Amino acid sequence: MRKKVIAGNWKMNHSPKDTRNYFAEFNDLVKDSEHEIILCVPYIDVAAALESTHDTNIKIGTQNLNHQVAGALTGDVSVKMLEDIGIKYSIIGHSERRQFHHETDDYVNLKIKSAFDHEIVPILCVGETLYERELGIAKEKIIIQIRKDLEGLPAKFAEQMIIAYEPIWAIGTGKTASTEDANEACKLIRDEIRKMYNDDVADKIRILYGGSVKPTNAQELFNLEDIDGGLVGGASLTPKDFADIVNFDK
Ligand code: 13P
Repeated sequence: MRKKVIAGNWKMNHSPKDTRNYFAEFNDLVKDSEHEIILCVPYIDVAAALESTHDTNIKIGTQNLNHQVAGALTGDVSVKMLEDIGIKYSIIGHSERRQFHHETDDYVNLKIKSAFDHEIVPILCVGETLYERELGIAKEKIIIQIRKDLEGLPAKFAEQMIIAYEPIWAIGTGKTASTEDANEACKLIRDEIRKMYNDDVADKIRILYGGSVKPTNAQELFNLEDIDGGLVGGASLTPKDFADIVNFDK
C-alpha cells in the first residue's frame, strides 16, 4: 500500500512572517494525518518554515534547485546548500519553470540525478498543454517527458520518486481534469515506469495529480486507484483549505 502524499506548492507567495503565521494555524489542523505532508515554499521562507514545523509531521521542500554544488551562478541556490540545511524534497521541472525559464528535459534529468546524490527526493512535474491535448498528443507528450526526465536513473532511486501529473491547462484555471482522465494519465505514467524498470518500481512510485485541486474535489481524485495524492497550488496558500485537502479522508 503506497502512502499518500499531499504536497503544497506556494509558488511565489508568502513572506517569512506569513510563513510563521501559516504554520501557527496549520500544524494543529493536520497533526493526526497519516499522509506524507510536504510544503514546497519559496527559498526565502525555508528557514522560517523549517523552524515552524520542527517536531511535526510536516516536511518542507523547495520549488527548484541548481544541480551544481557551487559556482558562478548568480541568483541560484545549489543542491548542496539545500542538503546542508536538511531539505529532503524539491519540485523539479514544474511547467512554470519549463515555460518561463526554458528548462529542458535534459536539464530536468540532471537535476533529478543531482537531487538523489544529495538525498533530496524530486517531485517531478509532467503534463500536456491545451494545444497538445487538442491535437490528441497528450499521451505522447507525457511518455516523452517521463522517458527523458528519468533517463539513466537507477531503479533504487526511481522507486523513491514522486511524480506529479499536472495538465498545464488545469493549473490555476479552476478547470480540473475529469477523474477518469486524471486517473488514466497517472496509470499511463505508472505503466511507462513498469516498462522502463519493473513491477516493483512501478508499484512503489507515488504519482500525484495537480491542477486546481480544492477541498471539494480532493476526495474524489485521491481515492482513485492510480492517484497517490496531490500537488496543490492556490488552495495550499490558506491553512484551512490545505488542511481540508490533507484531511480528505476524515
Ligand atoms: P493550482 O492548484 O493553483 O492549479 O496549481 C497547481 C500547481 O501548479 C501545483 O504545482
